[in-house]
Amino acid sequence: MSTLVTGATGQVGRRVLTELRTRGLSAVGASRSGERRLDWTDTSSWKPALEGVRSLFVTVPMASGLTERAGAFLESAADSGVGTAVLATAMGAENGPPDSEQRFLESRVRESFDRWTIVRPNWFDQDFTEGLFARLARSRNGRLELPVPKRSAVSFVDARDVTDTIVAALIDERHHEHEYTLTGPAPVTFREMVRMTKGTDSPVWRYKKVDEAGFYFRATDMGLSDRYVDTLNERFRAIANGQAAKVTEDVRRALGRDPVPMAKFVREAVI
Ligand SMILES: NC(=O)c1ccc[n+]([C@@H]2O[C@H](COP(=O)([O-])OP(=O)(O)OC[C@H]3O[C@@H](n4cnc5c(N)ncnc54)[C@H](OP(=O)(O)O)[C@@H]3O)[C@@H](O)[C@H]2O)c1
Repeated sequence: MSTLVTGATGQVGRRVLTELRTRGLSAVGASRSGERRLDWTDTSSWKPALEGVRSLFVTVPMASGLTERAGAFLESAADSGVGTAVLATAMGAENGPPDSEQRFLESRVRESFDRWTIVRPNWFDQDFTEGLFARLARSRNGRLELPVPKRSAVSFVDARDVTDTIVAALIDERHHEHEYTLTGPAPVTFREMVRMTKGTDSPVWRYKKVDEAGFYFRATDMGLSDRYVDTLNERFRAIANGQAAKVTEDVRRALGRDPVPMAKFVREAVI
């Protein structure tokens, strides 16, 4: 019996799959291009994807319009005998409008599974090296341009802390019926971040504030959808309002150790 890891080619799923296997546990990666094909939009892929599966890590791309389908998949999974599900949404999801995609998924997981855990990470450290910020900066010669003042702070979390929490929740029943908001140990401003990466081979080493319209044109030029960019702009407003600077104790609560500081991540990742 195995754990099915959805989003297995993405930043989080890839790490969860590797970590489960490193621990000698049976796990299979699923996505449209993953080792086991799963497409939220193709119901014929669901049953084969669930073959031999008893636990599930669920992640659905933000602002993708896929949550209703993913919700139906979760019901199928529970009906086919999957008893444990761990869902990743994002910090603050619980405060979104009641009809938001992330709140819908969270309630579907609570309702469908006997054993469930929800993790809500803040922005990842790895967004600067392999995620959205790196992609944006690479297209502007290393300059990250966001509609956020450079003095705004975010309690970025290391994707390794997110991964360890998800894996712990998949294998240890003490995490069941827990909801964790995962942050790093301290808020870090964009100004501090580029000071740390200056002179390294980081994809991001300069920063400039732009307005939302400017960001919209740059991001849609790169192929990001209107809907995704609108959601990003909402999240950037939350950063500018200070909402993403909050630090929680939840990495410590879940793992019994401190979260990885950003300075350590930068030293290890880009120098
Ligand atoms: N990055 C951050 O800072 C951050 C912070 C907080 C929360 N989160 C949340 O964490 C979650 C994971 O983020 P991430 O950065 O790991 O995502 P990601 O790197 O963008 O990966 C998305 C995954 O979804 C799969 N996928 C896309 N369309 C699919 C479809 N139609 N059917 C099945 N699978 C599909 C992709 O694989 P294929 O292309 O092979 O299908 C990929 O594996 C997201 O919900 C995100 O909102 C991210």
